Amino acid sequence: MSVNTVSTTRITVLPHPDLCPEGLAFEARRGRKLVDELLAQGIAIEHACEKVCACSTCHVHLRVGADAVTPADDDEEDQLGSAWGLDAQSRLSCCVRVGEVELVVELPRHTRNHAREA
Ligand code: FES
Repeated sequence: MSVNTVSTTRITVLPHPDLCPEGLAFEARRGRKLVDELLAQGIAIEHACEKVCACSTCHVHLRVGADAVTPADDDEEDQLGSAWGLDAQSRLSCCVRVGEVELVVELPRHTRNHAREA
């Protein structure tokens, strides 16, 4: 009999009208990029630069747990500067690794791409 030894951490996604209308809570694999764990759950968050910290479309707000993940580096801070709806809990989800602390994620109403289209 095999035992699942993958460590996981609870992620709660607050409701978003388009991407996650009911909200969602799931167990994310530690060490993985937050954007990949969101995509794996069917949340179609944008990732225009293919997750290399070269756009701002994977922007999220970490409403709980922001202080428990590795702080943004200079490259991430530069990209965040052009994110729609930036606030003190803003992060790029391709730059955040799932750690040991539970996260509560709010998806911004728009991305920079959507804001341009509006
Ligand atoms: S996907 Fe482009 S910065 Fe994260």
